[in-house]
Amino acid sequence: MTANAPLPEPEPSISSEDFLKFKEFFYRRTGISFEATKRYFVDKRLVERIEATGTGTFRGYFTLLRFQASGEELQQLTNLMTVNETYFLREEYQFRCLVDSILPEIVRHRIGSDAIRIWCIPSSSGEEPYSIAMYLMENWPGISKWDVEIISSDIDTGILRRARAGRYSARSVQHVPANWMAKYFKGIGEEYQLRNDIRDAVEFTRVNLCEPAETLAYRNFDVVFCRNLLIYFDDLSRQTAAETFYEAMNPGGFICLGHSESMSRISSLFKVRKFPEAIVYQKSREAK
Ligand SMILES: C[S@@+](CC[C@H](N)C(=O)[O-])C[C@H]1O[C@@H](n2cnc3c(N)ncnc32)[C@H](O)[C@@H]1O
Repeated sequence: MTANAPLPEPEPSISSEDFLKFKEFFYRRTGISFEATKRYFVDKRLVERIEATGTGTFRGYFTLLRFQASGEELQQLTNLMTVNETYFLREEYQFRCLVDSILPEIVRHRIGSDAIRIWCIPSSSGEEPYSIAMYLMENWPGISKWDVEIISSDIDTGILRRARAGRYSARSVQHVPANWMAKYFKGIGEEYQLRNDIRDAVEFTRVNLCEPAETLAYRNFDVVFCRNLLIYFDDLSRQTAAETFYEAMNPGGFICLGHSESMSRISSLFKVRKFPEAIVYQKSREAK
């Protein structure tokens, strides 16, 4: 380096105080709670966005995050902070429970022919709602009689784009039986493209589960799948989520959580239903 060469810009740093400020802000906006053990993960992404936006310091970047009218930067950062791990037929026993126990009970009590509505939140890249659609096609005789609407939501706009595209890696589809692969997917290079009619069976929407104004329009669901999201929330956001689901569900509706999540520990709004295939939660049939 010659004597006159400009020194490289120092990398912006995130102090412990900055981390706490950010943690509190991000928690209020998304319900996601970062423990101190996640510090490296969070700092790395903040530094990346400070550099990409040219704000230069945490202070400048934090101002942008809080006051940008469009909220675009908050969305960009949220997309980086989410954990999108998922795959087809994950926790398959719940899909078996859906077709063998939950749906038969729902249609037994249904008066009229309204569509059966399923809300799958969070969708991540779509493997879960598409697994539900294929499972119904393959295993539920009622599919020829009942109209089913599957709405699937996530806070991450980048992952929703991937969900809508319906193209997956070998790892994503590793638990899909060979005959389903042949029927529903087309190999394209190293990837697998999902058939259009299954893609069209799911409507994807951007929703922040912790923002009441964003969930108001989500009503009259018979089944909710909310798997592997509440593990990222603290007790308060979990309770808010439980109340949101309660409002969103029809009386007698069912909710399925991830295997390490339990509604009984969060809220008494739902009763436990032990079916042969899985334990799920139900809103009382007498509820409004
Ligand atoms: C681990 S994935 C779970 C995907 C799928 N349900 C499964 O179990 O395979 C968690 C997803 O939750 C989404 N997420 C995080 N906070 C959210 C919020 N407040 N509202 C909606 N989705 C959220 C993330 O973007 C991520 O895609």
